[in-house]
Amino acid sequence: MNDKGFILWFTGLSGSGKSTLAQYLTPKLIEMGKNVEVLDGDEVRENLSKGLGFSKEDRDTNIRRIGYVADLLARNGVVSMTAAISPYREVRREVRAASKAAFVEVYVECALEIVEKRDTKGLYKKARAGIIKNFTGISDPYEDPENAEICVNTGQESIEESAEKVLDYLRGAGLLDAAAV
Ligand SMILES: Nc1ncnc2c1ncn2[C@@H]1O[C@H](COP(=O)(O)OP(=O)(O)OP(=O)(O)O)[C@@H](O)[C@H]1O
Ligand SMILES: [Mg+2]
Repeated sequence: MNDKGFILWFTGLSGSGKSTLAQYLTPKLIEMGKNVEVLDGDEVRENLSKGLGFSKEDRDTNIRRIGYVADLLARNGVVSMTAAISPYREVRREVRAASKAAFVEVYVECALEIVEKRDTKGLYKKARAGIIKNFTGISDPYEDPENAEICVNTGQESIEESAEKVLDYLRGAGLLDAAAV
């Protein structure tokens, strides 16, 4: 059995589908015999990064902490999925460089108009109204990845299709058993 750990780093706008894909992939990877952990931005901000805000500095600190834990897990055979917006290219590059495990960046692309229409948490409405400041895509930057291993477009694909793209890449990269479904 293939027991390699690795980091699956999802990045994309709020509402693009990072958490949805991580949750959808979790049982599939477990079926393949993997140990899986998800470091989800929302949850991490309640514990590991409690007290941090949304300035560039705090966002970068949050990403460094997530990267550190994801790498510890991945080095011990766990598939670490991270689901934080991670809007800044430079700190994504930094956690990639610091990672001793394989680092697979997944750009979860989705047009702003679509995520805004989804408004799964009602945050875009608040950001447009100025109630929330520093909101990625509205009043804060999102720097899209230039060299992501995987790109999915959730405005154009079903959850199943996006997840299949991820699994296809992982099989091709030798990170899953080739025969695994
Ligand atoms: N191909 C797809 N992949 C993932 N999600 C999709 C896809 N197509 C539609 N969706 C929908 O998009 C929404 C994505 O919301 P989700 O909470 O996963 O976003 P997120 O990236 O985790 O946002 P946040 O950064 O705010 O946590 C869900 O309602 C999901 O059903
Ligand atoms: Mg999420």
